[in-house]
Amino acid sequence: MQLPKKGLITFKEKIFQMLKDFEKYDINWNDGRLFGYIFDPGKKYRNIAEKALLQYYHKSGLDFTVYPSLLSLEKEIVDFAIKHLNGDDSCCGNFTSGGTESILLSVKAARDYALSKNPKIKNPEILLPITAHAAFHKASQYFNIKIKPVAIDHKFKVDLKDLEKKISSNTILIVGSAPSYTYGVIDPIEEMAKIAQKHNILFHVDACMGGFILPFFKKLHIDISNFDFSVDGVTSISMDFHKYAYAPKGASVILYKNKELRKYQIFSCSDWIGYTMINTTIQSTKSGGPLAATFATLLAVGEDGYLKFAKEKWKAILKIQEFIEKHPDLKLVVKSNTPLIAFTSESVNIFHIVDEMNSMGWYIQPVFRYGNIKESIHLSINHSNVKRINQFLKDLSSAVEKAKKLPSGTLIEKIQPYIDQLDKTETIFKIFQLLNIQPGEIPKRFAPINEILNLLEPSLREKILLEFTNLTYR
Ligand SMILES: Cc1ncc(COP(=O)(O)O)c(C=O)c1O
Repeated sequence: MQLPKKGLITFKEKIFQMLKDFEKYDINWNDGRLFGYIFDPGKKYRNIAEKALLQYYHKSGLDFTVYPSLLSLEKEIVDFAIKHLNGDDSCCGNFTSGGTESILLSVKAARDYALSKNPKIKNPEILLPITAHAAFHKASQYFNIKIKPVAIDHKFKVDLKDLEKKISSNTILIVGSAPSYTYGVIDPIEEMAKIAQKHNILFHVDACMGGFILPFFKKLHIDISNFDFSVDGVTSISMDFHKYAYAPKGASVILYKNKELRKYQIFSCSDWIGYTMINTTIQSTKSGGPLAATFATLLAVGEDGYLKFAKEKWKAILKIQEFIEKHPDLKLVVKSNTPLIAFTSESVNIFHIVDEMNSMGWYIQPVFRYGNIKESIHLSINHSNVKRINQFLKDLSSAVEKAKKLPSGTLIEKIQPYIDQLDKTETIFKIFQLLNIQPGEIPKRFAPINEILNLLEPSLREKILLEFTNLTYR
């Protein structure tokens, strides 16, 4: 891009036309065809959120003394979140930009709290179930904390015996999910909390996906096990508003059992020539827009609106699962009582199913094999999907039929001679050439490449996708 010699302020249509042109290959996000990435409550709520977003967009959360409105809004939202998750008066928290930021903060706070209480800890460790979100791995890399993976049982829940066995004098945090992303399964939070308490270890519940919606499911008498501050031993919880609370993106909350814990999240620096920088979150300058938009969305939808959303989603969850259970070529990975569902196939290449659905305008997400857990397809069901379920299931059936006729493993042979050297950057670039992957371009069909990635161990996938990303961005 080059700056125009003369600004286009008098030709603003041109600017917006250019922005529109960029969107040419984007999937249409607001017509209910994406089973992931989008949480859309529909136009009438969206309009209100967008208005609030713009009203507060230019206010900066850098310094709460300059914008008391942002402090007040954040207190209101955190207060709501604490009550929603059965916290008491000693609970506290902060508004963040998303689940990943909430998780990074929870881990940073846990590390510094544990180190301050027990200076003997030299190599802090987190006990992380293999179903827990990748954001904890990001925290481990950023904050130099070791991850000890914890096994899961046949129902895809944390294996409690393995959890207790892995506790050591270096353990600073135990993590559970409510629910875990891929399979929508809620970990046995009460049992995990008992173990955490017995060993005096902090316990974080990642309720980024479920924190908001599960209390509404409980009100509908759906069987949801306790996962929040009502469970003794839970010391922090992450919950996103930009998922099932349907706020626009950039909205999550990190909550703690008390301010003694939260203290370790706050950054304070006066050791430079300038203003003392005090941040509750990772971002420093940040827009007040998402706070206002979240506040407006919560008020606009209200208790009755969220219950209605929960009811329609529950119907959709049952319908989709019933369809998959009856389908001769598809198989549920595990029964889910949350809006996150995963299914697989013993007879059809699921990566072709994904591509076929994509060519019909749908987005469903492929999940690679992990150890002996087979590859699958993940769906996150949101309000905008509900009106499309019948069409979705019809198209899914036809995608399966089309996928059956497509060849599998077309590219695997090409890379076979290099498979032992895939940890080398030069080999990865060679493979990109062989697979005709052009710098900066996104392939149209992913199945042949996904098949290759699916064969590899996670560390090799990481390396290849990292190189691909580095190549793709300018
Ligand atoms: C369980 C869980 N935790 C954390 C996250 C990360 O949230 P975000 O993408 O908002 O950073 C996700 C995202 O899907 C999630 O499902």
